[in-house]
Amino acid sequence: MKIITKKQQETAIVIRNKPESRSYFRIGLACSAIYESALPGQFVTLHLPGNLTPLLRRPFSIHRLIKENGRVIGMEILYKVVGGFTEKLTRAVAGDHIDLLGPIGNGFTVSKNFKNVALVGGGIGIAPLVSLADALKESGVSLSNSIACLGGRTSDDILCKNIFQLFGMTVRTTTDDGSEGEQALVTRPLEQWITSNHPDMIYACGPMPMLRAVADIANKNKLPCEISIETIMACGLGACLGCAVNKNETTGKYQHVCIDGPVFDAKTHIF
Ligand SMILES: Cc1cc2nc3c(=O)[nH]c(=O)nc-3n(C[C@H](O)[C@H](O)[C@H](O)COP(=O)(O)OP(=O)(O)OC[C@H]3O[C@@H](n4cnc5c(N)ncnc54)[C@H](O)[C@@H]3O)c2cc1C
Ligand code: FES
Repeated sequence: MKIITKKQQETAIVIRNKPESRSYFRIGLACSAIYESALPGQFVTLHLPGNLTPLLRRPFSIHRLIKENGRVIGMEILYKVVGGFTEKLTRAVAGDHIDLLGPIGNGFTVSKNFKNVALVGGGIGIAPLVSLADALKESGVSLSNSIACLGGRTSDDILCKNIFQLFGMTVRTTTDDGSEGEQALVTRPLEQWITSNHPDMIYACGPMPMLRAVADIANKNKLPCEISIETIMACGLGACLGCAVNKNETTGKYQHVCIDGPVFDAKTHIF
């Protein structure tokens, strides 16, 4: 896992903001060149200028960097509409200003030596896995030998399937109600795939029970695995200690998602 400490607060201009499906939107923001060095898995916090509620900034993963002539000019954020902030965000239009702070946290490990990898995403946890796939491809990792396991409650939660297919990845989808793909937990295709494949890394982002299950599978099979945790956050900067998760097995210290994560090694993270 890599960490970048340099971050910046800026006024970002909305490029576009469109519905992705019933409960999800994708927003494009113009941003500064600091995001040239952003890592897949890192996140930003947003605030809507002039809005007193919600008062606290909200964290969102960098879904995809927008590049022009090879330079980063913006980013996309994929978001699920769940409450006050995300509802207001749906009303943002091109040209609006948004207060942006980032990039924050650490990023997933990407190595050009990886031969194949498994991405496991649950619902909105799929969002950072797209910038991860972009970074893996840029590093020369063969995604055609790799798998994306995408899970959700219903078909509405299965995001970015076509993007992973365009990368040439094997894509397996699962839903709780069977409305898309197999009616199963997203760990089922992962377990099936690793019986005949030995990934150099399993990456997972999604709800906590899913992360626990993926970590268990990786640890039992002695496969390296990184999990990205999305907790409720207040400051997003290491000041309030409100995003504490469980202890690190090696150090015995409490971990905080905004400063020690959001990406953690599944071997040393205690759920
Ligand atoms: C590192 C990180 C990355 C994230 N990346 C994304 C992303 O890419 N796209 C995205 O849509 N969301 C992401 N989230 C979650 C996002 O921050 C929350 O959905 C958002 O803050 C909700 O704000 P709100 O005011 O709309 O809803 P609120 O009114 O604050 O909350 C609505 C409901 O959602 C619950 N909730 C809020 N935050 C979370 C959370 N983190 N996990 C589970 N339940 C929560 C609340 O308890 C409440 O029940 C991320 C969170 C973290 C910590
Ligand atoms: S959110 Fe305040 S310390 Fe992490």
